[in-house]
Amino acid sequence: ETGSVTVLPVIDSTNTWMLQHPDDFEHGSCLLAECQTQGRGRRGRQWTSSIGGSLTFSLRWDFPFGIARLSGLSLATGVAIARALHRVGLTSAQLKWPNDILIHNKKLAGMLIETQGDALGPIQTIIGIGINVHLTAEQREEIAQSVTDLSEHFSHPPSRNAILAILLDELHSVLKVFTEKGFAAFQSEWESLHAWQNQPVSIMQNTTTILQGIVTGVNADGALVLRTPHGEEIVHAGDVSLRRA
Ligand code: BTN
Repeated sequence: ETGSVTVLPVIDSTNTWMLQHPDDFEHGSCLLAECQTQGRGRRGRQWTSSIGGSLTFSLRWDFPFGIARLSGLSLATGVAIARALHRVGLTSAQLKWPNDILIHNKKLAGMLIETQGDALGPIQTIIGIGINVHLTAEQREEIAQSVTDLSEHFSHPPSRNAILAILLDELHSVLKVFTEKGFAAFQSEWESLHAWQNQPVSIMQNTTTILQGIVTGVNADGALVLRTPHGEEIVHAGDVSLRRA
């Protein structure tokens, strides 16, 4: 079963709105915007979207435990998105640590997870997801990364409604299992979907390379595991980003 879905034509950001109106959205409910004027990405970046050009929504999900047990949540969410894309026929969708969805190394979708509540008590999360459906040439130029959209991979792309329904279904089932078992339940599936498994990468902090190695996978907390000349290194998501070396 899924919670309520609210659809708004234009809004600054579905994440911002849900954070500002916590009493209007219950556990499991979803807020979708046809267009966001101030869509936010990770690390202060902006997320461009225009009417019909993307699927942008936020899902409210409450956990019975504190923030300490949320590690790996964005990776588990990635598994749900990849499963949904596979279900609509996009079997080449892969994951990039910690929270991008790629097709042939181009970014198709991303997520921004924000939390609310007492640091030690039960935590509420706002899981914001943006999927590129049809980018304009202008938008492609604006975005610094190499990007792709659903229209590039289908002659008849599935409707946004159909994708949303399947995605909410997968998210609900993944989040229920995550609540009970944590990321460990998804570790091997995540690795099987990992775009850069066993490849050389650089860990960047801003524009500085802070570590290089071969990615051997992720651990049960969702941290990245690298093999380096100095031994194994564990990298936690935070202000770092990943590049192929
Ligand atoms: C990223 O790749 O950096 C994360 C992108 C997350 C975008 C989604 S769109 C719906 C939700 N509302 C926002 O303002 N951001 C997220």
